Amino acid sequence: MPDNLQFPKNFLWGAAASAHQVEGGNHNDWSEWELANAERLAAEAEKRFGRLPSWPMIREQTTRPENYISGRACDHYRRFREDFDIARSLGHTSHRFSIEWSRIEPEEGRFDEHEIEHYREVIMALRERGMEPFVTLWHWTLPVWLRDKGGVESKEFPKYFARYVQNIVSSLGTSVRFWITLNEPDIQPMNAYFRGLWPPQRTGILAYSQAVHQLIRAHKAAYQVIKTISPNAQIGVSKDNVYFESANWNPWNILLRMFADYFWNHYFFNAISGHQDFVGLNYYFHNRIDWWYQRNENRKISDLGWELYPAGFYFVLKDLARYKKPIYVTENGLADMQDEKRAQFIKDCIASMKRAIGEGVDVRGYFYWSLLDNFEWDKGFWPRFGLMEIDYKTLERKIRPSAREFKRIIDELSL
Ligand code: FCB
Repeated sequence: MPDNLQFPKNFLWGAAASAHQVEGGNHNDWSEWELANAERLAAEAEKRFGRLPSWPMIREQTTRPENYISGRACDHYRRFREDFDIARSLGHTSHRFSIEWSRIEPEEGRFDEHEIEHYREVIMALRERGMEPFVTLWHWTLPVWLRDKGGVESKEFPKYFARYVQNIVSSLGTSVRFWITLNEPDIQPMNAYFRGLWPPQRTGILAYSQAVHQLIRAHKAAYQVIKTISPNAQIGVSKDNVYFESANWNPWNILLRMFADYFWNHYFFNAISGHQDFVGLNYYFHNRIDWWYQRNENRKISDLGWELYPAGFYFVLKDLARYKKPIYVTENGLADMQDEKRAQFIKDCIASMKRAIGEGVDVRGYFYWSLLDNFEWDKGFWPRFGLMEIDYKTLERKIRPSAREFKRIIDELSL
């Protein structure tokens, strides 16, 4: 039996990226934070990354402050056409990118037509190449004026977000079918408001809950705005669900697993019930619970030390079927500078996904993270997630062998 039998026709294949991580030249809450924190992050590098097997290879880069400043990044803002040409040549039929709020509304209430035009061109460039745009409206960065008003945690955040979305969708609405309102609306509050790692470096359960609450309100408000302007639009969020597993039948472990699964995987989705047309999944993590979290066996890890566990992808997809909506995998990937593990990882993840599809789970698209190497937030430039390798000195793009393997799988499944 051919391998592709039963594989959905018109399945979307592609890669994802986000504005701040690739565009270059952004001025937002992150860019200011980077300048203020680069020295500290460089000084802390050994403490944070010293135990990784990749340490000898990354030491030089991670101990330099420039690693932590996004600067011109990949210059994708100007080179997007060239990047999309490559994506197209790699068999991609879709691409996920984000719109940078700080470009669109650099000052409160002032919307920049020139920047809206830029994203119109990005969308057109994708359409001209036969690629379906998946547009993320918020991938973590904020205009500085909004940061100064309290950012995500502020009660006014949903109002400002809805106004920004209204502006974008009334300008670009008809050319976009798939909107992702928010990227990972729990990782951002977790790292920025609970653990104090990302701007604005707040710590505490109250700040965290407040931020999640405002993101729920913001999503719902944006959903209404988009539907009113563009009734056929398909709207979702990209959620980073984790495969939580209890190591054994110990009741404590089982309880902890249920608790983690409920709060991390389902709380947000339940809260926005009735306000999503598809489920967006970013799959990276497996969490084996044995008295506490993260008792993973870590047989295979990425350069970042994250466990590679493609088997868990199947369980997460099966679990998401409960929402009875189409599922798009909006991110899945690994940091692998030598490109040694990427091809196998993609293959194994797609096998897990096929298994779920074979059992009736309605998965309709898969986006590898990421199209190109990029700026990985507080870790800076060293983690290499790209299908394309970037030489940050010359900005030259090089296609990694795994990207061609991915193309081979796409071709085989699209027959
Ligand atoms: C996800 C983020 C994305 C990137 C990958 C590695 O959590 O959405 O921006 O940082 O992780």
